Amino acid sequence: MTAEALGERLFGALIGALELCTVEVGRELGLYAALRDGPLTAAELAKAAGIDERYAREWLEQQAAAGFLTVSGTAFALVPGASDVLLDEGGPAYAGAAGQFAVGVALLTPRVIEAFRTGEGVPYSEYAHVRHGIAGFNRPMFDHLLTTTWIPAVPAIESALRSGGAVLDLGCGMGYSSVALALAYPAITVRGADLDEHSIVAAREVAAAAGVADRVSFTVADAASVDGDYDLITVFEALHDMGDPVGVLANARTLLRPGGSVLVADERVSDEFTAPAGEVERLQYAFSVLHCLPATRAENPVIANGTILRAPTLLGWARDAGFPAPEVLGIDNEFWRFYRLR
Ligand SMILES: C[S@@+](CC[C@H](N)C(=O)[O-])C[C@H]1O[C@@H](n2cnc3c(N)ncnc32)[C@H](O)[C@@H]1O
Repeated sequence: MTAEALGERLFGALIGALELCTVEVGRELGLYAALRDGPLTAAELAKAAGIDERYAREWLEQQAAAGFLTVSGTAFALVPGASDVLLDEGGPAYAGAAGQFAVGVALLTPRVIEAFRTGEGVPYSEYAHVRHGIAGFNRPMFDHLLTTTWIPAVPAIESALRSGGAVLDLGCGMGYSSVALALAYPAITVRGADLDEHSIVAAREVAAAAGVADRVSFTVADAASVDGDYDLITVFEALHDMGDPVGVLANARTLLRPGGSVLVADERVSDEFTAPAGEVERLQYAFSVLHCLPATRAENPVIANGTILRAPTLLGWARDAGFPAPEVLGIDNEFWRFYRLR
């Protein structure tokens, strides 16, 4: 990249970063929600959302300047279909969590800078916006792909779940994967486990709201020392965050019932370091610097991998944990690669 191209690239990135912060303003204050039913003037938006009119006008004009809203006279409206992207949490097109992510990592960046100096970590529990951002991004995949595409791609797992069984969801976060499994397979029980207490509190609420709290339970626990016995153990975008990933997989192996499997989904990055990298890997690397690596360093880790969990590394961990022939599954997904260990 030339110096001139670098300057242009940073300028474009600055526009994107600032616009993401304005998306978070709109999400948090319910401004997009107020626009759901039709165009509003600044005065109408201010009244509907309970905000100051002068700020409402500036935000509306900025959103229209960015191309996120249309304007006709003094009335501003969502572009057609925008409510699917900005408001329909859990819908297949939802991307409204992007602002939460950006603000969430920015808020903790001074702590990360200090951590670079000291070598210490920044606990996952302190990244409150990011916790919601992760759940907001991953929930559409759990609601729309997990039980319609991913599980059916492994017929043995699908048929085991159809007839019941026990599932352990390690690093379950806010519980959307655990709940999606329970909703699709009415005879199973699911236990979600996560180190982060805030996530577990939220996960219990998610399960109760979905009406599956009788079959889905959640525990604050380190995945390396959870107990029980299970037909399926899942780890969705969490193994790379865990401070003892080999210990986690070795523990999971001891918890599997005969015929059971561990299903891991983690980042779809290249097999070895390449630069410049593709867009997904660039996103994941930035997230690793600002969140995943500092969060794992706070676990007093055996291994602090960061977000970039390459397939050869994961397969090596699985073998070290006692799974002789871990498989990469042929499930197509832009962000994640899937592995079956048994
Ligand atoms: C990127 S989030 C993914 C959450 C969830 N699986 C999802 O896809 O929305 C990673 C999760 O791993 C959890 N985690 C990190 N280390 C852990 C450990 N040692 N044991 C259990 N959970 C852990 C974090 O608290 C966080 O909730």
